[in-house]
Amino acid sequence: MQKFVYEYATKVYFGKGAAAEHLEEALAPYGKNVMLAYGGGSIKKNGIYEEIKGILKNAGKEVTEFSGIMSNPTYAKVQEGSALARENNIDFILAVGGGSVADCCKIVAAQAKTDEDIWDMEMSRGKAPAEVLPMGAVVTASGTGAEMNGGAVITNEEMKIKTGLFAAPPKFAVLDPQYTRSLPSMQVISGAFDTLSHAMETYFGSSDRDNVSDDVALAIMKNTVVNMKRLLEDIDDMEARSNLMWDSAMAENGILKVGRATDFQAHQIEHQLGAYTDCNHGQGLAVIHPAYYRHAAEGAKEKFARFASEVFGKETAEEGIEALEKFISQCGLPSKLGQLRTKREITPQLLREVADSCNIIKTGPKELTHDEIYQILMECL
Ligand code: NZQ
Ligand code: ZN
Repeated sequence: MQKFVYEYATKVYFGKGAAAEHLEEALAPYGKNVMLAYGGGSIKKNGIYEEIKGILKNAGKEVTEFSGIMSNPTYAKVQEGSALARENNIDFILAVGGGSVADCCKIVAAQAKTDEDIWDMEMSRGKAPAEVLPMGAVVTASGTGAEMNGGAVITNEEMKIKTGLFAAPPKFAVLDPQYTRSLPSMQVISGAFDTLSHAMETYFGSSDRDNVSDDVALAIMKNTVVNMKRLLEDIDDMEARSNLMWDSAMAENGILKVGRATDFQAHQIEHQLGAYTDCNHGQGLAVIHPAYYRHAAEGAKEKFARFASEVFGKETAEEGIEALEKFISQCGLPSKLGQLRTKREITPQLLREVADSCNIIKTGPKELTHDEIYQILMECL
């Protein structure tokens, strides 16, 4: 184990009716000016907006709305939100949505408290924000685990970079599986695949042995696969949805990562692919993972064999990767780049740019080169 400092910052209210039961109490310690942030309008169709507005009213809060947060939130949207937060003297940000809304709000919370450009501050000068507005997350789409960590993935459209910025974890997270009921089935599955990916990316990052995090990561992978299979039988299986909601938080709340190196190379590739094409995060990962692992497995054969055996009941590293690929196709997730819904056509030239702008992870099973990333992406065409 490497050195670490560990603190759990996010209070979780989990289960049916969690917002009605706990949101008012969760908001009580904060000032009266609340920014209610949400995405493209799904919460208006499924009744969540009305319910949350009612709770805010009962709590005596003054509400400023910040809407239209897109999937793969942009840096321009962060700037819009922080200007709004300043103009309205916002005391607390309530993010109601999936990972995109939570991520955008985390960086709005940081940008609202500084005159410095937060991208420049973090990316060029390596400085963390000194102060952030407090925020909370009401989750309506699970998978990213964004509600329980301080990272946020933001797309800088001008620079064509999608990357992680850091702010602070939400003060609380409301996790009601019922809130995911109206989610399109493909988003339910791609979100769950993101969870599986987080556990895999953490597990394959460390070469130390008998680390408890490996055991927990494998348990999360197994549980995620079992519950995804249940959803393939019945997408409205609320027990499976609720199991997956907690898998999602567990995989990305930091508990798996303490004291160890992680991989996240597949995420780096997907994020750059997202920067160029705006593809869905979980779907992009589904395409990239098997091809990436075929290149990387040689560097961690034993770990891949353990993964194969514990998650898919197979023996060798190669069989494990094949089983993962088969599972992806059983789930109806894309296995080729051409199956992704993208804003731009995916050409070899575009993939070259994606590969060349991609971060290289040094702590995964294999340190790739930009040429190898290009090769991996070309194998996904
Ligand atoms: O915008 P609305 O209209 O709300 O529609 C959303 C969006 O179109 C819809 N949706 C959400 N809840 C719904 C619903 N539709 C019907 N009923 C509901 N209850 O779902 C669509 C996708 O939402 P989005 O938030 O974009 O998805 P997700 O939660 O997968 O978040 C993806 C973003 O999170 C980042 C990704 O890179 C991507 O930008 N990630 C954040 C991480 C983190 N902070 O820890 C870790 C991840 O690895 C990931 O990179
Ligand atoms: Zn992810």
